[in-house]
Amino acid sequence: MSVTHVDTTPPSPVIEITGLRKRYRSIRRPGTTALDGLDMVVHRGQIHGFLGPNGSGKTTTLRILLGLAAADHGRMRVFGRPVPQCLPELSDRIGAVVESPRFFGSFTARLTLSLLAGTIGLPDVRVEEVLTAVGLRDRADEPVKGYSLGMRQRLAVASALLKDPDLLILDEPTNGMDPAGIREMREMMRGLAADGMTLLVSSHLLSEVEQLCDTMTIVSRGRRVTHGRVADIVAAHTSDSVTVTLADAAEGARAAEVLRRAGLAISGRAERVEVSGAESPAAVTRLLSDKGIHLSGLTRQAADLETVFLRLTGTAPVDGRYPQIDHSLLPPAARSTPDERELTVTVSEGAES
Ligand SMILES: Nc1ncnc2c1ncn2[C@@H]1O[C@H](COP(=O)(O)OP(=O)(O)OP(=O)(O)O)[C@@H](O)[C@H]1O
Ligand SMILES: [Mg+2]
Repeated sequence: MSVTHVDTTPPSPVIEITGLRKRYRSIRRPGTTALDGLDMVVHRGQIHGFLGPNGSGKTTTLRILLGLAAADHGRMRVFGRPVPQCLPELSDRIGAVVESPRFFGSFTARLTLSLLAGTIGLPDVRVEEVLTAVGLRDRADEPVKGYSLGMRQRLAVASALLKDPDLLILDEPTNGMDPAGIREMREMMRGLAADGMTLLVSSHLLSEVEQLCDTMTIVSRGRRVTHGRVADIVAAHTSDSVTVTLADAAEGARAAEVLRRAGLAISGRAERVEVSGAESPAAVTRLLSDKGIHLSGLTRQAADLETVFLRLTGTAPVDGRYPQIDHSLLPPAARSTPDERELTVTVSEGAES
């Protein structure tokens, strides 16, 4: 009799970070704790959002993961292998764009990618594939210096895609883009995930994470404050309160009295009464109809990610967005050098013409 062995071990996560700590030290000023025991898990095939207010440690985490900065403590695994130790053997499987990309301004996108492809032994047909993937093919023969920020960002993503990685790490990929550019970038990322790629995407745009990501990690002050499926997190924070609308203010007052006597918390005024603590919206309707009070409307207040974020991090977004810190306004010790902040897969550092 043959025995079939079924391996029930779950596949290891693509990224696993445990207890990551990083403190930037300075001779003249007190140091900055950028990461204070951060945990993160990203599974295969997910688009995972990495969401946090300014200075919460997103870029630091990504740089450490890619071996561009050293951690003080913590454990990291990518595709089950310890990093940074195993990064050389994993480099073909990881593509990344961290911070602002820079390119030779007088080179075209096609030439830029062709030179990069040549250095890693890839044929020019791959250049055409990535140009198509990021939607730059029509403008590929223009010098990069005439490119918008969004086009440069797409060129950076194209360069990260050349080696057809299994994992793509993007730090604020839609930063500075207009709504059309954001939509195109989102569609491109979705397409990559549909082809089986795992994506880790940091963002300030709450709506972006809500629209794009399956799962997310929310970070505040260098620590994870929540993680899981985006829809589950939003649902878990959806408030139990409902707003009932009555025919007029007098009916509103009657309804408020009935609901208060039933032990529910009431706020609002006139014909709009906010009720919390009810078992369900139907229970509110029933209580009122039993007293002959008829509703003209009932709405449940759904939490959006913005509300969730505010509750968890105590940081208020402005117009759904966390404003970027202008690093030039920071004291020198809190600023990183351009070389440190603008690491990416580029042909040139500071050679823009
Ligand atoms: N090279 C550096 N030297 C000193 N402090 C730094 C350096 N890089 C980052 N920091 C500090 O570490 C903390 C985390 O910064 P980090 O850039 O990782 O945050 P972030 O979440 O990416 O922020 P942002 O949303 O502004 O991009 C901040 O307080 C920042 O000022
Ligand atoms: Mg950052």
